[in-house]
Amino acid sequence: MILPIYTLGDAVLRQKAETLTGVDKNLDKLIKDMFETMYQADGIGLAAPQVGKSYDLLVIDISVMKEGRDTLPMVFINPEFIDKQGSCSMEEGCLSVPGINDFVDRPEIITVKFRDEKFNERIETFDGMLARVLQHEYDHLQGTLFVDYLSAFRKTLLKNRMRDIQKGTVEVDYLLAEK
Ligand code: NI
Repeated sequence: MILPIYTLGDAVLRQKAETLTGVDKNLDKLIKDMFETMYQADGIGLAAPQVGKSYDLLVIDISVMKEGRDTLPMVFINPEFIDKQGSCSMEEGCLSVPGINDFVDRPEIITVKFRDEKFNERIETFDGMLARVLQHEYDHLQGTLFVDYLSAFRKTLLKNRMRDIQKGTVEVDYLLAEK
C-alpha cells in the first residue's frame, strides 16, 4: 500500500521517534508499505516519520544507483551510530522537501548498531552512498531535516520554495499527506 508522505512543516517530522521493542505483523506491514512508497516515489531511503509514524525505523535501497547496484534493500530499526570517521560533502535531496537539493557535509564512514527486520542485533560499517543515505534517514528519526544544515544565505534563497512546501502547494508525482 502506498502511504502519503509528510513534508516540511508537518509536526511529525520534528519529533524524536519512538524506540521499538520488537517486530510484529503491523510493523512487518509498515516496512513493506514503506518500501512500496519509497519505490513509487523514486526514493533511495525513507524514514517512518516521513509516512507519519514516529518510530525508530528506516529503510534504504540504493540498488538503482551505479555505486549501489550490488546492494540489497535494508531495514534499520533503532539505529545508533557507534563510530564516525572522516568528512565529505555530497548533494542531498528529500522526499519531504521536494524540489530542493543541496550539499551537506557529513562523516564519510559510519559504524551503526541496529536491529534488522527480524529484530536481530547487528553492527555494520558503511561508507559512500550507503553511509550518506543512512545518516540522512537517521536525522529524520531525530526530527532533523537536511535543509536545517544549509547556510542562512541558502535558506533565504530557498525561502519561497520552502514556504510552498509548508503550504502544500507543490506539485510532485507521489502522494503527499494533506496539510
Ligand atoms: Ni529525507
